Amino acid sequence: MPIPKAELHLHIEGTLEPELAFTLAARNGLALPYADAEELRARYRFQDLQSFLDLYYELMAVLRTEEDFTDLAEAYLARAAAQGVRHAEIFFDPQAHLARGVPMGTVVAGLARALDRAPERHGVTTRLILCFLRDASPESAAETLAAARPYLDHITGVGLDSAEAGNPPSLFRAVYEEAARLGLRRVAHAGEEGPAAYVREALDVLGVERIDHGLRSVEDPALVERLVRARVPLTVCPLSNVRLRAVDVLSAHPLRAMLEAGLVVTVNSDDPAYFGGYAEDNLRAAADALRLGEDQVRLLARNSFEASFLDDAEDLRAA
Ligand code: ADE
Ligand code: ZN
Repeated sequence: MPIPKAELHLHIEGTLEPELAFTLAARNGLALPYADAEELRARYRFQDLQSFLDLYYELMAVLRTEEDFTDLAEAYLARAAAQGVRHAEIFFDPQAHLARGVPMGTVVAGLARALDRAPERHGVTTRLILCFLRDASPESAAETLAAARPYLDHITGVGLDSAEAGNPPSLFRAVYEEAARLGLRRVAHAGEEGPAAYVREALDVLGVERIDHGLRSVEDPALVERLVRARVPLTVCPLSNVRLRAVDVLSAHPLRAMLEAGLVVTVNSDDPAYFGGYAEDNLRAAADALRLGEDQVRLLARNSFEASFLDDAEDLRAA
């Protein structure tokens, strides 16, 4: 039985399995430049974050209708539930859809249909987090937040993702200030490929409550001390880090050292269709490679609920 856990770092577009990509392409009259799902899966060898993002954005072209987004989220929630996920905080990348002429309302309504019925169907509670693309302009981020205003009932927070190097958090100060004014929670990817200084900026300039990845924090001992003291959660994604070559091999992943330093780390799946595993797969692979004890596995699961945006009453029900 998989351990009950919360998934806090999951891009819904990164749950698009090759088979579903072909189904949606056919339904929408689109041709994918791959013979079949097997040929597509064979392309899932990445040199770095950018080489993954190129394919990730390309495949999103198959997501066009509300029903497509519902089917995508439904497939993820069924898989997550089977892996012990009781609560999922789900990122989505609206700019990647708006740029293709898919309106915000289509994306949010489609996702919300699957999310709203997930407690009953799958025993999974959810939150939705709108991510800004850091390789698009701050003005585009502001327009995106404005386009989301009619749908804020469905959206708990904002995040920052896409190509990190050379796109520091500080560029997005104004849109994060606006998000805070709107009562949205704030997180950001930092320290995946970018330096520890980006983790500091995400905290100091964007006011985030959690750091997504945060791996490179370990290069800055004073920052680690600060993160430990303030109990800032880091949503670590072990299989992603190996596939995108942020670490060489899983046995060299800093997860265990991070835990032992007292950091509030959680284990997550990032883009599971691309990186070889969902929540429990990540937890078990990391536990095996790093020889984590069952007490450490239980701590990771407990951290996932503590670091979530569930309120205390919901937290008890989920755990
Ligand atoms: N978008 C989807 N997955 C991502 C990742 N691992 N880092 C940055 N942006 C992403
Ligand atoms: Zn991510």
